[in-house]
Amino acid sequence: EEPPIIFSGIQPTGRPHLGNYLGALKQWKHLQDTAHPDTKLFFCIVDLHAMTTPHARGEMQELKWDMMASLLALGLDPDRCTIFFQSTVPQHAELQWILSCTASTGYLSRMTQWKSKLKLDDNATIETTKGKKTLKHGLFSYPILQAADILLYGTTHVPVGEDQRQHLEFTRECVSNFNYAYKTDLFAAPETLISPFPRIMSLTTPRQKMSKSDSATKSLLHVTSSPKKIIQRISQAVTDGRNEVTYDPENRAGVANLIHLLAGFDPKGRTPEELGETMKGYKISELKQVVIEVLTDELAETRENFVRLSSNKDKLREISAQGTQKARLQAEKIMAKVKDVTGI
Ligand code: ADP
Ligand code: NA
Repeated sequence: EEPPIIFSGIQPTGRPHLGNYLGALKQWKHLQDTAHPDTKLFFCIVDLHAMTTPHARGEMQELKWDMMASLLALGLDPDRCTIFFQSTVPQHAELQWILSCTASTGYLSRMTQWKSKLKLDDNATIETTKGKKTLKHGLFSYPILQAADILLYGTTHVPVGEDQRQHLEFTRECVSNFNYAYKTDLFAAPETLISPFPRIMSLTTPRQKMSKSDSATKSLLHVTSSPKKIIQRISQAVTDGRNEVTYDPENRAGVANLIHLLAGFDPKGRTPEELGETMKGYKISELKQVVIEVLTDELAETRENFVRLSSNKDKLREISAQGTQKARLQAEKIMAKVKDVTGI
């Protein structure tokens, strides 16, 4: 029985927010701290994925290092896991091409993410030199890159937030198409480890998920936020007209979101239902006060670590180089097998 191999990624499109933390990073840290020492953990800052949205060169550079510092600040340990930038391991793009040769465009065109981006966001399209608007191919096909990211390491488990479920299904599809085409069992579909926490919603439009790509900056709270920022964002969080606390995620999304944050950071590990019960009779302003106190306490160390780490660029570069080397070693092993079965 081979030891587990864990892979997950995050886009360097902004600092990680509370949704990223409760949906993914908290699990990454927990796996690092509890997994058998033989378990391999790969945590990838997926800069190639970040290219699907427009970006300035300088901003990309800054956000990449910010993400590296944030992951370390949250307690990910480069001696225990492999933390690296996707673009430093060229096999990601190589395997994407190979998988795309057996991937179905029909399946991709039924996926929802590019459709919703296309509706909401002009950034899903490019204007061609001929003055036409067209869907970007990178955005359309990036689930194949995501499949390549995962399969490149012989991954057995992928810890992600609930919003990634559809993409993991597509990875499974890529596995069966490739294996069928080449009459091989080289790839195996990994197991998805969906976060136990509910999806975290925007603080300003609580029917929409909190996302780095949301341009409304008041909608998110970063894990590196100062106490002042925590107070601002939570105090301004949109709830509804009613002044008393009840836990009703169907009808009171904004209030439920605050309770979900509380549950995610609760030192006693209580469920949203239990906390909702405890908070019955509280006013919304009192609930917000509790959320502010818990977040301020729980994020203090992360913020301190982040400030210290981000000023030590040499250290970050060294950790990145070490991660690249470890990741390439594993990627080369799998690619050798891929080349063997495909005959290239
Ligand atoms: P974003 O949408 O903020 O750019 P990414 O695409 O980089 O985030 O996803 C990184 C991880 O964070 C994924 O595992 C994803 O499932 C998780 N995630 C993103 N947003 C949320 C959210 N609002 N609630 C819970 N998990 C989330
Ligand atoms: Na996303």
